[in-house]
Amino acid sequence: MNIKTILANALSKKSPDELIATSKKSELKKTLNVFDLIVIGIGAVVGTGIFTIIGTAIQGGPEGVGAGSAIIISMVLAAIACVFSALCYSEIAAMIPVAGSAYTYTYATMGEFMAWMVGWILMLEYAIGNITVASAWTGYFVQFLKGFKAVLPDFVVNFPMWLRNDYRFMFAYCDKFGLDPHTQMPYLFDKIPVAINLPAIAIVLVLTVLLIRGIKESTRVASIMVGVNMFMIISFIVVGAFYVKPENWTPFAPGGFEGIFMGAFLIFFAYIGFDAISTTAEETENPQRDLPIAILGTLIICTILYVCVALVLTGNVPLGHIDIQAPIAHAMRAIGINWFAGLISVGALCALTSVLLIYQLGTTRILYAMSRDKFLPKSLRLIHKKYRTPHVLTWISGIVVIVCALFMDLNISAELCNFGTFTSFIIICIAVLILRKTDPERPRPFKVPLCPLFPVLGIFTCGGLMIYSMKFLKTSSLYFPLWLVMGVLIYVIYGYKQKRVEEQTRKKRLPKKAKVQL
Ligand code: ALA
Repeated sequence: MNIKTILANALSKKSPDELIATSKKSELKKTLNVFDLIVIGIGAVVGTGIFTIIGTAIQGGPEGVGAGSAIIISMVLAAIACVFSALCYSEIAAMIPVAGSAYTYTYATMGEFMAWMVGWILMLEYAIGNITVASAWTGYFVQFLKGFKAVLPDFVVNFPMWLRNDYRFMFAYCDKFGLDPHTQMPYLFDKIPVAINLPAIAIVLVLTVLLIRGIKESTRVASIMVGVNMFMIISFIVVGAFYVKPENWTPFAPGGFEGIFMGAFLIFFAYIGFDAISTTAEETENPQRDLPIAILGTLIICTILYVCVALVLTGNVPLGHIDIQAPIAHAMRAIGINWFAGLISVGALCALTSVLLIYQLGTTRILYAMSRDKFLPKSLRLIHKKYRTPHVLTWISGIVVIVCALFMDLNISAELCNFGTFTSFIIICIAVLILRKTDPERPRPFKVPLCPLFPVLGIFTCGGLMIYSMKFLKTSSLYFPLWLVMGVLIYVIYGYKQKRVEEQTRKKRLPKKAKVQL
């Protein structure tokens, strides 16, 4: 095969008509309405970011200064970056309502290679993001158990550390306190240390089974979780508002612009997820109308809630005393309402569970779209006979999170997830600009206002925050390009060939007459 053919294949696009036709043949059930979509949106958005990462964004971390009370400006900045991309997502999702989100839209605009790369980058957002959430879930679960120590037996409340942490943490812990690791965890054959994050594994397994049972059932569970966590967040805002001391808001921006921008980069994690709505386009009853409403609605609701939470949190607790691990629950303890701090843990657990559920749904649906496009073997997209869900892919995405959660650091996975998501947002903004040029006549039930200005602003805000943070985040900004290089290599060695093999098999199976039409 010559270089021209290879390039032609790598740049070949899928027409939006072809995508829509494929999705019409979809075996997935169309059951979701606008309410379900907003539940999916809020369920995917409200989680680790607002319950945990907000603490580091305010106080600063090992690789960057904090925003202080100016976190509200960081939040607005992050929201602005999201709004431009959300508008672009809405335009394309309403125009091409097909499963696969940014991956599918890239296929229609930038061709096969870029589509593969976006699918690969989206794995950072969904699968690697889920590792962050699964690890944070264990932290809140432990807090939740501690809240019930009066009624629960001690062996449940204080279950062994090697059953709730990975082996790297256990070694670091032993090192810090001068303990012999052999006394802190069991060893297999006297050589291999055993330490597993059991709660994280258990919750991912339960959610995997739930997702296989069906998307409607899964969103029903998600809506209960979203209800509980919304109630907790609103209660926090209302109760905390009575204890706000305006003097806590000064100094307003102790980290200056650096703190505000780094805060915006970190708190961006709290907004990720509204795009998960578009991964379920094929399962939506009326995607053209409902997708834009749900995407923008989710973003507006979350921004209002986040700014209120930040105002109350920084108004309740003096700067420098805000907790890094459980800032919101800690704020209630700081103002002396301990029982409410316990309830906040319940809300946080619900929030993290729904994020996990929806991210796993997103991972599976993107892999499903990639497999349907022949990048991955057909056997992977088998649909469960009874529940009509892609069960093989659901198991695979669950197992990947479980295995990676055994090794990966929570903060690094969150930063990698941010880098991946910023990149996919930029690509979506570019896709809108391309489609406006290449396919201007196609009906657009929703249009980005002030195009090309808004998509261009989306590219600049997302790109600006990403590049700025790379100056400070040494570890993740090294891993991210490595991830991209790995994606290119896998495409060259596997993806490209797999696609050609599947195409050949398809051609052979088609009758002669149909072959002429190809
Ligand atoms: N936005 C999601 C969260 O904060 C990823 O957990």
